[in-house]
Amino acid sequence: MGATTAVSLGALYGYNFTADAASVDYNAVRKDIADLLESNPNYDDGSYGPVLVRLAWHSSGSYSKVDGSGGSNNATMRFSPEKDYGGNAGLEVARNLLEPVKAKHPGISYADLWTLAGVVAIEEAGGPKIEWKSGRTDSADNKPTAPNDRLPDAGQGADHVRAVMTRMGFNDREAVALVGCHCLGRCHTDRSGFEGPWTNAPTTFSNLYFEELLKDGWTERKWKGPRQFEDKSKTLMMTPADIAMKTDAKYRAICEEYAKDEKKFFADFASAYSKLLHLGCEKVCVANVSESSPYLGVTALATLGTFLAFKNKSS
Ligand code: HEM
Repeated sequence: MGATTAVSLGALYGYNFTADAASVDYNAVRKDIADLLESNPNYDDGSYGPVLVRLAWHSSGSYSKVDGSGGSNNATMRFSPEKDYGGNAGLEVARNLLEPVKAKHPGISYADLWTLAGVVAIEEAGGPKIEWKSGRTDSADNKPTAPNDRLPDAGQGADHVRAVMTRMGFNDREAVALVGCHCLGRCHTDRSGFEGPWTNAPTTFSNLYFEELLKDGWTERKWKGPRQFEDKSKTLMMTPADIAMKTDAKYRAICEEYAKDEKKFFADFASAYSKLLHLGCEKVCVANVSESSPYLGVTALATLGTFLAFKNKSS
């Protein structure tokens, strides 16, 4: 069974593969993404990793389990109005950064590239291995664009965060694990309006976010910007939504667990982040290419084709 036959069989059974996607060398794509991460020492804290992780999150977190709309499939953030939503400010840095990778590997969809970039950025920052499947396709235009209210508002509290995370399909444990991703990166006044990093090691994936958050001494910063909190050293920040992670009793218990047990945080984060990247893509993402063989995607397709042909014959 050749890959092409498998692809045709996949298409016959409603899977959205393209012949191009089957020819992509995902290991080469991973390497090209990894090579970009520290390509500009003057950018932020020396790594593009955090903004790539945020691109993957915002392209996926638009999902609603209520009606199945949104999610990473289609990559509609390439177009207005989604790319202009206030919550997506700054993500053009990540999208533009990935353009040369797309040009070098034209068979990969933007939707696959953006989500894979999030995975590579986390793994390269020392985070856990994230299961990732290919198969997303890109829409030709801005339809169907997710509405402009899908991502959490950092100025709000626990009820809002819980409502948004529940709409995506995440329980409290998954929500807390996901927000622990603020161990990476920083806020920018010209993007969200907030300012500063959550930890002193913003290019390393760790459970430091929880350690810092649970410390005493967070006070409201006196400044002209949006309401945010600063630690005793006045170098770290938390938004109101971050502080809600420790003032809400249910969230707090999970934060305390992760602050004590980094291994548990890594395991729960890996599973929640992988779930996030595949929201709404369950039918299109069937080729598991998280392992290191460049041929695994094709092998998975061939295996699926054989399985479907066998199923067809025996039914
Ligand atoms: C309660 C939910 C969340 C809120 C309110 C929130 C809010 C924010 C805000 C305001 C920023 C600053 C953007 C900027 O000014 O550049 C930010 C950055 C970031 N967020 Fe979140 N976020 C949430 C959840 C998440 C999740 C679930 C992830 C990943 C799984 C994530 C990953 C990141 C990363 C990596 C950055 C840093 C980006 C950079 O350094 O350029 N966030 N977030």
